[in-house]
Parts: sequence; C-alpha cells; structure tokens
Amino acid sequence: GAAELGPYRHYMQKEIFEQPRAIADTLEGVEGIVPELFEAMGNHRAGEGAYRTFKDIDSVLILACGTSYYSGCVAKYWLESIARVPTQVEVASEYRYRDSVPNPKTLVVTITQSGETADTLAALRHAQSLGMAHTLTICNVSTSAMVRECKLAYITRAGVEIGVASTKAFTTQLAGLFLLTLALAQAKGRLSDEQEAAHLKAMRHLPAALAAVLALEPQVISWAEDFARMENALFLGRGLHYPIALEGALKLKEISYIHAEAYPAGELKHGPLALVTSAMPVVTVAPNDALLEKLKSNMQEVRARGGVLYVLADADTRIESAEGIHVIRMPENYGALSPLLHVVPLQLLAYHTACARGTDVDKPRNLAKSVTVE
Ligand code: G6P
Repeated sequence: GAAELGPYRHYMQKEIFEQPRAIADTLEGVEGIVPELFEAMGNHRAGEGAYRTFKDIDSVLILACGTSYYSGCVAKYWLESIARVPTQVEVASEYRYRDSVPNPKTLVVTITQSGETADTLAALRHAQSLGMAHTLTICNVSTSAMVRECKLAYITRAGVEIGVASTKAFTTQLAGLFLLTLALAQAKGRLSDEQEAAHLKAMRHLPAALAAVLALEPQVISWAEDFARMENALFLGRGLHYPIALEGALKLKEISYIHAEAYPAGELKHGPLALVTSAMPVVTVAPNDALLEKLKSNMQEVRARGGVLYVLADADTRIESAEGIHVIRMPENYGALSPLLHVVPLQLLAYHTACARGTDVDKPRNLAKSVTVE
C-alpha cells in the first residue's frame, strides 16, 4: 500500500533506492572472507564444509534464468581473473535439455532470487543426476526449494522484492558472487592478506558509492525523456560490463516495452551497426578500464552513422558531452566492483522511461515475478 511505498511511486523505485541498505545488510558480519559464509543448509547440515568443497573443485558451472543469469555472467569474469577457476555460465532452460559433459569436480552454482524458478530447479536436479554433487545456491529466500536442495547456500539480504523487474536482488547477488570469488581464491591459495583486505575495503565502500550513484537520478530522468519517444535502443559494454549492458537492455524491454538489445561493443561492426540511425539511441557503459580506448573507437563508429550516444563514463575517462553525445559522469572508478555501480543508472533509466510511457511498472504485461512452471 501507499504507506509502505513512502516517498516512492512504485515498488521498483523503492527497491532501486534500497540498494545501499541491501548491500550493507549483505556485508554485515563479514570479517575476512571465510568460506563458512557459504553455509550448509537444508538437509545437509552435517559434514558439508564449504572449505573442503572449495578446495576439491576444479571448475564452476553457473545456472540461472533472467536477471539472475546476468549476475552469473559478471561472476564468470571475477571467478576466472581473481580465483583463476574456469567458469561456465548457462541459461538453466538450455542446460537441462542439453547433452553436456559432466565433471564431478565442478561446483554447480545456481543463482535465484526466489529459489523456486522451475527451470533453475530442474537444471540443478539434472546436474545432480549426472553425478555432480557439489552444489551451492545464491538465493534470496532461505526457506525455498533451491536452498533445501543445494548442499551449500549463501542467502542474500535484499529483503522482499515486489517489483517484477529485479533490481536489489541483482546487486546483492553480485555482492554474494564477489564474496564467493574471494572465498574460492582463498581456498585455492590465490588471495594474499593484502589483497583480501583491499577487496573487503572496496566492498565496505559500496553502500556509500551506491548512494552517490543514486544521486544521479535527475540526469537519468532527462535521458528517459528522450528514450520515452524511441521504439528501439542498443546497449554496448565490454568485458565485465557486457553483462551490465545485457541487464540494462532487459530492464528497458521488460517495463517500458521498448525493443532493446545489448552487444559486446567489439561486435558492433558485425551486425548492429547496420541498425544505427538517429532513431536508435546507443547506451554505452564506459568505465575507465583497459578496454576504454577500444570502446571510444566503437563510439566514433556510432557517431559517424548519426547514432546518438548516452554514455556512463568515469570521472577520469575524458569523454565529454558534445553534439550527439550525452554523458553521465560516474562519481568514481570502482575497479572490479564497477558492475554493481553501473547497473544502477540503467535501472533508473528503464524505470523513468516506463513511467514516462505510462506502463504498469511493477507488473509488466505477460511477465511473472517467479516462473514456477515451465
Ligand atoms: C522472472 C523475473 C525476473 C527474474 C527471473 C529469474 O523472469 O521476472 O526478474 O530474474 O524470473 O527469477 P529467479 O527468482 O530465479 O531469480
């Protein structure tokens, strides 16, 4: 009801603004990255130590649907670069029906806000039936079927999420996945005390960093006024931010019904460039990382075709607003945790575009909060 919404117009907006609190709650009690954060739950309380599991496994297989799948796509970058553990990510509905090659030393990680998504549960059971017994879930509901059926669990503390389009569940999943990366790196002897301390310090800064990004809302609203008149949009990112581009496009199509797709920016010339005109806004996630120079040349390719750019740029990227280039400057450079911050303006963009178009933001047509039947 209106009382619960406080100053917000919709649950989605409220949930976007709850993210600093949700991340702070998720980090409460985290003193050093102990594998035991990943507790044995459900029917597996005895003898299922996370540390032993993390030492034993040689790879990770992430299974999820929707927004939860995109958090898994970000985690692949972290798991391979920080923990050096080979990682695959697969949409649950594909994995469950595919003839795949099982590896009993793989850690199967399901990611699910609800813990009840039919395809994700079926994918878990499929992996188990193939002899993969090391299972872990990152889940927002401690009493769910997924938590009962996995040996290990990390419960995110997003709190109840009502908006069909997931927001705070996604960022808390990312926080949990970053902790999983650090715990695996620790178990594998790949994390020095100094590195652990630096990563933890960066995580503790997240609530304040998120609050600073939320303060950009008025600038995002002015972008949304342009987007509300469009029927198509393209989202570009590279590396860690390619999944963030995918999530930004998903949010926009889910609630504003604008057709949106995301590409890794290097693929632009292999297809989507043919679609670029002044009627196709191009959102670019451009943190100042190793790929920035390449991304800048992708942006020039868009401008040369009359495409209008909407750029999320770090303070130090020297990308300036100009004719056909709208820049929102992110307050800081966030390093490995950058995806958690860059997704927030994209959530707000989808939200305000949908509001401007007058759609039913919290209950978009044809979609359900959790898909418990196939
Ligand atoms: C539905 C929701 C999405 C969610 C997906 C997976 O499609 O609308 O917001 O990401 O299900 O749900 P889960 O509960 O497994 O994370």
